[in-house]
Amino acid sequence: MRMWSLQSLSFTLCIALSCVTTAAGLIRVYGYEGGEVDVPCPYGEGYEFYVKYLCKNNCASEDVVIMTTGAKKSKYSIKDDQTSRVFTATISDLSHADAGKYWCGVERNGKDIYTEVKLQVEQDTCCDQSIKLQSNEEATVSFGCPYESVDQNNLKYICRGNLSSTCLQQALINSTSQQNGKFRLHDDRRLKTFKATIINVTQTDSGRYLCGVHRDAGLDVFTAVDLQVKEWCCVKSKKQSGTVGGQVTMRCPYPPQHKNYRKFLCRGGHRKNCAGMVTSRFTPQDNPASSIFSVTIKELKPGDAGTYWCVSDPQWSAGNYTKIQLSVDATVPHPVVFIVPAVLLILTLAALVLVYKYKCHKVQEATVVNNSNKTEAPPAEKVMDGEDLYANQDVVHWGQDASYGHYDDAGEDSVYQNTDDIYCNQFPMKAKR
Ligand SMILES: *[C@@H]1O[C@H](CO)[C@@H](O)[C@H](O)[C@H]1NC(C)=O
Ligand SMILES: *[C@@H]1O[C@H](CO)[C@@H](O)[C@H](O)[C@H]1NC(C)=O
Ligand SMILES: *[C@@H]1O[C@H](CO)[C@@H](O)[C@H](O)[C@H]1NC(C)=O
Ligand SMILES: *[C@@H]1O[C@H](CO)[C@@H](O)[C@H](O)[C@H]1NC(C)=O
Repeated sequence: MRMWSLQSLSFTLCIALSCVTTAAGLIRVYGYEGGEVDVPCPYGEGYEFYVKYLCKNNCASEDVVIMTTGAKKSKYSIKDDQTSRVFTATISDLSHADAGKYWCGVERNGKDIYTEVKLQVEQDTCCDQSIKLQSNEEATVSFGCPYESVDQNNLKYICRGNLSSTCLQQALINSTSQQNGKFRLHDDRRLKTFKATIINVTQTDSGRYLCGVHRDAGLDVFTAVDLQVKEWCCVKSKKQSGTVGGQVTMRCPYPPQHKNYRKFLCRGGHRKNCAGMVTSRFTPQDNPASSIFSVTIKELKPGDAGTYWCVSDPQWSAGNYTKIQLSVDATVPHPVVFIVPAVLLILTLAALVLVYKYKCHKVQEATVVNNSNKTEAPPAEKVMDGEDLYANQDVVHWGQDASYGHYDDAGEDSVYQNTDDIYCNQFPMKAKR
């Protein structure tokens, strides 16, 4: 018996993620790695109740992958639609190893009826090469996706991501409509290019896009575009830091042709709700010779931390501003400023304790020994000690002054407050004697 052929039957069938074409008795099916593919096998009248199967390679008995009468398998399944006389074998979890030659078989006496099947398995992530695009936030981005002349009348579409298999289902726009939200699509058949446009892009629009051309036969064809949407502008985006009580100068370079423009610095999380600042602690300075506008903030406060924007162009056109992230450290004073008084303090305390013990002893001795003659001596010593104390306190104050002016912070205050307490407590103690 000769192989039953489907020569007369030539059709195309696209189901879900796979496509099939038969021509001259060959059924071509395409699938994506990880996906599944349906292999539709039409058969002639009279064979409705015959056993059908799908086999691989040479179709030896071990090559049969699924049969209508066989056991169920996870990777393969089979359905027979006897009304339309098409049985469908489904192969899931596709891998490259599944690609190749198969046969649709109808079991009968004598030679079975076979139809050849070619399965092609493609990688699902598109593509190794891509068109790279850069843009600024709020801009309108357009890119052209070229296609072959055979595809002139086919549906064109755009999707996000790199998965070809789901691109059409998840299309942002297709060529049957001109606009969908912020997306536009224009198919220029003469140039064999379709132009996709995204208006008012944001940073979240960054990423991969696929331009898809739908093909009735075979898998759709794609071109990949990688879009990077940069922060609204940023000639410069920088970080600066200062310390409480200190000062900081923010420098904002501007294009030389802006020298006659008004320049300003404003503050806020977003340049659009950026508030101006009028405070005597801010000193602006424009240096047209070096095309730098600078603002010095003195007596920094913790609340000065934040995002600042400098602009020289009132139009806020992209690219002509500086964004400065200012941080104000309210931590402990510089180690040297802190350690020196601390060391001095400890030394002074130690000295005082020694001196005091010694003097206390002496005073007691004097009081005991020279009870009548030297009654004036202790007060003299007390005064002297008092002077020492004040002198020592001045040292602390020096430290305190030096740092107090810079560290407008409660924590620092309390440290020195405690220091004061130490002296204050000691003085009355001593004065009592
Ligand atoms: C595909 O896209 C995903 C997420 O966008 C990404 O993680 C992955 O690396 C991409 N794969 C390729 C091959 O480009
Ligand atoms: C093309 O887009 C239109 C409008 O968004 C939609 O109704 C239609 O289903 C899409 N066509 C395909 C094939 O996805
Ligand atoms: C652009 O998009 C942003 C955020 O999505 C929106 O606030 C702004 O009004 C839009 N601008 C225009 C011109 O549509
Ligand atoms: C913005 O800055 C760039 C680079 O300094 C300059 O070439 C451009 O002319 C500026 N734009 C405007 C509107 O001045």
